[in-house]
Amino acid sequence: MDLTNLSQTAAALVAPKKGILAADESSNTIKKRFDSINVESTEVNRKSYREMLFKTPGISDFISGVILFDETIRQKNETGESLVSILKNQGIQAGIKVDTGAKPLSGTKNETITEGLDGLRERLLEYHELGASFTKWRAVINISNEEPSDYAIKTNAHALARFASLSQEANLVPIVEPEVLMDGSHSIEKCYEVSHTVLNEVYYELHKQKINLNGTLLKPNMIIPGKDSNEPHNPEKVAEYTVKCLMDCVPASVPGIVFLSGGQTDNDATINLHHINVIAKKIHTPWELSFSYGRGLQSAPLEAWSGNEKNITLAQNAFHSRAKDTSAARNGSYK
Ligand code: G3H
Repeated sequence: MDLTNLSQTAAALVAPKKGILAADESSNTIKKRFDSINVESTEVNRKSYREMLFKTPGISDFISGVILFDETIRQKNETGESLVSILKNQGIQAGIKVDTGAKPLSGTKNETITEGLDGLRERLLEYHELGASFTKWRAVINISNEEPSDYAIKTNAHALARFASLSQEANLVPIVEPEVLMDGSHSIEKCYEVSHTVLNEVYYELHKQKINLNGTLLKPNMIIPGKDSNEPHNPEKVAEYTVKCLMDCVPASVPGIVFLSGGQTDNDATINLHHINVIAKKIHTPWELSFSYGRGLQSAPLEAWSGNEKNITLAQNAFHSRAKDTSAARNGSYK
């Protein structure tokens, strides 16, 4: 394990003004996204769409890395250039989602455990060979009257730490993603309480499993009310609760926190990130507070593209504009 290299890679991913594009939708998820624009989810269409995003002129001003799906890290375009090389030629790092999804957790009603540890050591070696410098694993935590259980939190935190350890062994920076879902009608206080418990458990496991935190990134949810709650959107409150929760739970040796967008509207994801960074600047948080958005960066270009080659410039402009705004928010200077 090359610790210097791991911490340099992590620091570069959260370099000033920059953040991450999550383009790691699994086959099922990308099909849902394509269904929404009436485009068939074929291998060629998925490649064309992602190549279009990666080739957006000037995008490396705002994007430091892209998280890919297994299919994408192996894809080449018509001229034989791999999508990984397209990214690298622009100075953008390639990452890879390595979990195999959230599956029902035995002994619970509705909770999940994220799988993918079997054979992971060997897969990581291959991903490194294919050009990846970082990895991602997403654990999913649900809020309801009875959930989450202590059991679901502990098993998911343990798996996240196992993934992080194997990634660092392979000289890949792990992005640790414990996502507390925004589904439900819970209050912002409930989201705070659950996220606080989850983050404490995750860092307890990372510590027990001897993870070098300066060679990791955290990808959490923001602290927001459930999407079916009646609470009005209050970005200052979201920012205050989010920063407080992170300050309580995330060690200073972590170089960066890259939020997921989690199904928030583009506007909410941008304004919330802006206010989080306004507070971060005031109190001098020890870590960078950036983004690793999927939907928050892709909804606009996906719609503009709509599967038509003629719309490529329109879609690239939409992606550039979302990345530029999100970069400004990540700097606390979004207008
Ligand atoms: O794991 C989740 C994705 O990488 C981020 O997606 O920003 O649409 O929540 P999202």
